[in-house]
Amino acid sequence: MPGRGPGQMEKTKDMKHFLDIHTTPAADLRAIIDQAAAMKAARQGRPRGAPDDDAPLAGHMVALIFEKPSTRTRVSFDVGVRQMGGQTLVLSGKDMQLGHGETIADTARVLSRYVDLIMIRTFDETVLQEMAEHASVPVINGLTDRSHPCQIMADIQTFEEHRGTISGKKVVWSGDGNNVFNSFLHAAQAFDFELVFTGPAQFDPEDDYMARARAAGVAVSIDRDPARAVSGADLVVTDTWVSMHDAQSSRERRHNILRPYQVNAELMAHAKPDALFMHCLPAHREEEATSEVMDGPSSVIFDETENRLHAQKAIMRYCLGR
Ligand code: CP
Repeated sequence: MPGRGPGQMEKTKDMKHFLDIHTTPAADLRAIIDQAAAMKAARQGRPRGAPDDDAPLAGHMVALIFEKPSTRTRVSFDVGVRQMGGQTLVLSGKDMQLGHGETIADTARVLSRYVDLIMIRTFDETVLQEMAEHASVPVINGLTDRSHPCQIMADIQTFEEHRGTISGKKVVWSGDGNNVFNSFLHAAQAFDFELVFTGPAQFDPEDDYMARARAAGVAVSIDRDPARAVSGADLVVTDTWVSMHDAQSSRERRHNILRPYQVNAELMAHAKPDALFMHCLPAHREEEATSEVMDGPSSVIFDETENRLHAQKAIMRYCLGR
């Protein structure tokens, strides 16, 4: 085929990557959330393994690559593809040649000859970007050290399921300004909500993420006082104090610094009476959040978990134009 290098397959006309919330048009994000909600409603009461009526991924093969551990992402993508009539290959990065010197670009070209869609969980976001650049099939971000967009799409779906539109609401993140926070920051712009970070200065969100959000007009602020920050919140969110990319040797120091930002009943009492509590899981109970909150009436943590399935099904359909 003239004009194409080796391994350069033509990209499908309707294919779209899902690499981050801020690189996806807001109207598309809204359509994904709406489709996720509709698909969830359409299969209420069915066994988990029952196929969707329209089987939109029939005949499609999806590669799920994990360079980091996962429970929710692995299972929800795998089940989601099967419900839509497709098939999956679950691949561990360390068992692939990718983990033994083969380039990301060549891996992307190779996989594009076998599968219709690639989901990758990796460390450095440049791996994700390189995969997307060289793949001739859509690529989905299943978490990097910098972002976790699929999680936040599920979280938006979850909030709206319980409380209606998230637009104009106050969301407070307590603890470590990590990759999941970054995706909330991206979502605050796309879905138009206020975002307050409360945590110690050592664990502030990255400056460039905050600067970009502020330049884009996002109502984002930092308040060191957790009780004051949470005042009037519609949603309180936290995450583990030691993420997968943090050194385990820093665990005790991080815990000591972050302890005042634990989400407990006393802190939740400062939020609106109907405020929701979210945690993307896995959690370290009694550390970043107490079981009293996690298992209490404000908590929607397992709805978030379930909605990973529905949101990602809608994301895959979006990517494949199905
Ligand atoms: N929340 C989340 O991404 O969970 P896993 O690490 O288990 O996939």
